[in-house]
Parts: sequence; C-alpha cells; structure tokens
Amino acid sequence: MTEHRVVTGGKGATLGGTLGLARPALWRLLLASLLGACAIGATILLMATSAWMLSRASQRPGEAALGLSIVAVQFFGLSRGFFRYGERLVGHDAAFRLLANLRVRFYRHIEELAPAGLPAFSRGDLLARMVGDVDSLQDLLLRVIPPYATALLVGVGAVAGMWWILPAAGATTLVALLLAATAVPWLTGRLARRAARREALLKGALTNSFVDLIEGAAELTVFGATAAEVERVTQLDASLTRISASNASTAGSGLGLTTLLAGLAATGSLYFGARAVHTGHLSGLLLGTLAVVPLAAFELVSPLPAATQALARARQCAARIFAVLDTPAPVTDPAHPIELRGGPHRLEARAVWASYPTSACPVLRGIDLDLSPGRFVAVVGRSGAGKSTLAAVLLDFLTPDAGTVLMDGVALERCNSDEVRSIVGMVDQLPHLFDASLAANLRLARPSATDGDLADALDRVGLGAFLGGLRDGLDTEVGRSGSRLSGGQRQRIGIARALLADWPILILDEPTEHLDQHSADQVMHALFEDASDRSTLLIAHRLSGLEVADEILVVENGTVIERGTHAALLHRAGLYAAWWWEERSTQSIADRTPRTAAPEAAGIGSRPTQLHQGRDAQ
Ligand SMILES: Nc1ncnc2c1ncn2[C@@H]1O[C@H](COP(=O)(O)OP(=O)(O)OP(=O)(O)O)[C@@H](O)[C@H]1O
Ligand SMILES: [Mg+2]
Repeated sequence: MTEHRVVTGGKGATLGGTLGLARPALWRLLLASLLGACAIGATILLMATSAWMLSRASQRPGEAALGLSIVAVQFFGLSRGFFRYGERLVGHDAAFRLLANLRVRFYRHIEELAPAGLPAFSRGDLLARMVGDVDSLQDLLLRVIPPYATALLVGVGAVAGMWWILPAAGATTLVALLLAATAVPWLTGRLARRAARREALLKGALTNSFVDLIEGAAELTVFGATAAEVERVTQLDASLTRISASNASTAGSGLGLTTLLAGLAATGSLYFGARAVHTGHLSGLLLGTLAVVPLAAFELVSPLPAATQALARARQCAARIFAVLDTPAPVTDPAHPIELRGGPHRLEARAVWASYPTSACPVLRGIDLDLSPGRFVAVVGRSGAGKSTLAAVLLDFLTPDAGTVLMDGVALERCNSDEVRSIVGMVDQLPHLFDASLAANLRLARPSATDGDLADALDRVGLGAFLGGLRDGLDTEVGRSGSRLSGGQRQRIGIARALLADWPILILDEPTEHLDQHSADQVMHALFEDASDRSTLLIAHRLSGLEVADEILVVENGTVIERGTHAALLHRAGLYAAWWWEERSTQSIADRTPRTAAPEAAGIGSRPTQLHQGRDAQ
C-alpha cells in the first residue's frame, strides 16, 4: 500500500503563475468579461430606468413622456438575458479549451517523465492532479477573472452615474463597493487559503486511497485489511466534508457581509438623496434611482468573496500541477537531433553511471557493454543489482550521470528518443496490457498488422490453442492490466508484441519469469528463430541456457564484476561459477523429482534451450 505522499507548493503557486495559466484564453476571457459587464450594466440600467419610470408615472404624465423609458426598460430587460447567455457561452468555451490544452500538456509531460521519473508521484495522486486539480482551474476562468474584470468595468460606470446624480450618494456607493470588493474578499480569502491547501492535499490522498483500494482489493481481502483501509478512506472523506462545510460557512459569511454593505449603501444614498430633495438640490424623480442603483451595483461585488475563495483553491491546484510540469524529465531530446542511419545497428554503453531522480546513490557504476549486430549478451545478477536500470539507460528512458550510450557511434543524448526506441525495444518483466481487446494490445506494436499476423504471433509464443478456444477470438477483452488472463499469458502476449514490432535490437528483461520450462523454451525459440541479425540483451536470474551467449555480464551493485563467455566464467571460478554449480545441483534434484507435466525439449538450433528465470538469485 502506498503512503500518501503528496507534493504540493505549500503556499500555493504565485498569483502571477496561476493567472498566467489563463493566458492562452486571454481574448475569449476578455470577451466573456465584456459580455458579463454588459449583462450587469443592463441590470443596473433596468433598475435605474424602472425606478425613474415608476416615480414619473406617479405624476400621471402623458403616455409620450414615458414612451422612451418603456422602450429602455424592455431593451435592458431583454438584452441582459442575451448578454448573460453570451458570457456563459464564451466563458465556458474558453475554460474547456484551456483545460483540454492543459491536460494534454500535463499528459505529455508525464510521458516524458515515464518510466524513470514517475515514481516521484503516486499514481492516484497523479490522477487527482490531472483530473481534479485541472478541473478546479476552470473556476479561475469562470468564477475568478470575469467577476473581477466585470466589477471593475461596471463599478466605475455605476459610481460615476451616481456621482453625476448626487456626489454624496456616489461617494457612499464608492466606499461601500470598495469595502465589498477588497476587505470582504480579503477576509474570506484568508479563511479560505488554509482550507484550500488541506482540501487539495486530501483530494489527492483520497483518489490515491481509492486507486489502492481497487487495485489491491484481492490482497486487502486476503490479509483481512479491507476494514482498516475503508476506515482510512472514510476518515479522509469525513475530513473533506468538514472542509466543504467550513468553505460553505466562509462563503456564507462573505455573502452576508456584502449584503450588509449593499443595504448600508442603499440606505446612505437614500438618506443623502432625501436631504438633497428636501433642500431642492435634486428632483424627487431620481430618489428611487439613488436607492436601487447601489443594490443593483452590489450584484457586481457579491461574487467576489467566492471568487477569492476560488482563487485560493486555484492557486493550490496550480501549485500541484506545476509540481509535475516543473519536474525535469529524466531524458530530454536535443533541439536538433542527429538522424540515425539504417541498420545494422550497434548499441554500446561506455563507462555508464546512472541514478534515478529520487535515488540517494548511483545505481549503475561504470558499466561497459557492446551489442554489435547479431550479438547475444546476457546480464545476470541478484535482485536490485541494477539490471533493469541498465535496460532503462539503453532504451533512453534514463540519461547517464556519466559515461555514454552510443547508437551507431552517436551518443543517445544527441538523438531523438523515439527514434532510438524504434530501433531498440524491450519485453518488460511485467508487460503492461491495456484494458482493451487482445487485438488492440497486439497492434500497439504494429498498427498495420492483419488479424493473420496477430494470430501467427500468438501461435509462435504458444498461445495458438488459447486463441482458438476464445469465443470472441482476437476481439476478447483482456481486462484492466490484463486481469482476465494468467500471468504467463500476459507475459507471452508481451513477447508476441515484441515479435510483431521486430526491433533490430531487443532487450528481454526476464521475459519468461512466469512460464513453465516448456513454455519458456517455446518463447525463446520464437524470439531467436528468425532473428539471426538481431542483437539481444537478455536479463536473467537463471543461468541455464546462457552457454550460447556471446558474452555474459555479472552485475553486482551496479558494477560488472565478471564478464566473458560461459566457459571462460566457469574457468575463472568466481561468482558466476559458484551460482552455476549451485543451480546445477538444484536442477539435478529437480530432475530426479517426478514431473507433473512432461516438458518436451524444443529444438532451437544454436540458441538457448532452457531460459527459465523463475528463481530470485538472492
Ligand atoms: N524508478 C526508480 N526510482 C528510484 N529507484 C529505483 C527505480 N527503479 C529501481 N530503483 C532502484 O534501483 C536499484 C536497481 O533496481 P533495478 O530494477 O535495476 O534492479 P534489478 O537488477 O532489475 O532487480 P530485479 O532482478 O529484482 O528486477 C534498486 O535499488 C531499486 O530500488
Ligand atoms: Mg529488474
């Protein structure tokens, strides 16, 4: 079970950094704000004109005297609906475009980080960042920037209009609006900031717990730990509920204070207006207008406390997004990569030192390796010795700290990583299968492959009978991570993919770990039968079958401690020889034990016959 390691920016991203995320949608945002301003402007003018019209009507003038105001009331009443609709349409369009772009940018960076840089983040938390945190940023575009822009635009106009009618009423409205636009959001913002930080952390932790709960359901049930894990999720959920309640009360307090200020502004304006009417400085017809305009103008500032809360949340989410986007990729492509020539290809590692972004000390310490065309090199060593890390370096997933990896004499740092990986491929220890059909999983390696090609590849890895027994054949869904298949079937599908990809250089990271000896032989036969010019690097725990390797590297703590052919290493009587004799004695005991399934020896010419890598050499 993963610990809830949640990286966040502490205080949140800077204001500039957060607002900068909205830059690609600037013009659409401006248009949305302008339409929003027109909608609220129309509301204010509707109220002002209505108040004037009612006052004027009470004097029973002729119809002609009210004609213009009636038209104005109708116009403002109708137009505010259109303006509001336009604002929502443009604003949401801007928000969804921006979120889509941000998600693509986020995913591309994850792709650059994978696989070596990804362990810095837990899976569920990454998911929460990509889905929840990016989603929360839509508030920035819908509930933060437009309300502030609109308040500024229309507020100035409303105060100027009031001032023109009666300066004292204008000043009262100005002070009340300023307080509502600054002090109240400041207060709610302060209260919201801490809650936002905890909320972002908890949301990440909750998604992480859910992912763990779903993926580890079987283990949790077996170990009787489900109740404890469910309790943990329940507690996280309860904490989030408490934060939501506190957010709601903060928002409610903000709204209450704003309403109070609106009431004070209206009362103040009315008071000054009444005095002006009394002293004959103002027409009584405008008194109603002075009372309703401040109330209408407060529609401008009432969303601001919520906007400040949303901004605090957006800053936390932006920090979590930046934490991923700013994580340097373990490998970066040069601006002008050198194009690699056609085959045959030679891959070499020269005095390579390497470590992961999170590792405390080097994992590889000065490794040399030569994979000339057609060469078969094996790497053996204990668990954790650095074998898979060596594969990651050769695949350009990890840049060496020192030394170089050369493809046809060109350092990998100067090549395009994707081009390198079109030449060097790997069958992983645990090949990932997507939650899709068998065919889709196989076509990943060769999109143009026909159904016949796919069936042939499956046949070559011993899955022909299995395919024949499937009701839906190649269209059979394999489930999440291939959960509807056995471990050995998943591994063989991974190998069938490698056969389809037909890479000139193939790295096999314990490719037959989950297979019985007969299946392992069959798979290795398939890998070697048609590939005399393919170079192969085989990472193995078990030594049987390595007699035919051109070179064997024995790796301990990231260093090659012995190298040579099988015969030379046996002659040397070092660690390899000790392991070999130990394995031989275990094997001879196994040979004397009656077998349940009779594995027939698969004739595979000059290549390994028994590459069975089931045992941990530790
Ligand atoms: N992505 C990673 N981030 C940080 N450290 C890692 C990462 N992957 C592996 N390591 C560490 O690097 C060291 C070498 O790991 P590696 O996977 O290369 O071993 P290995 O020889 O392939 O072992 P095994 O035979 O068990 O597969 C280990 O100490 C491991 O903990
Ligand atoms: Mg490994």
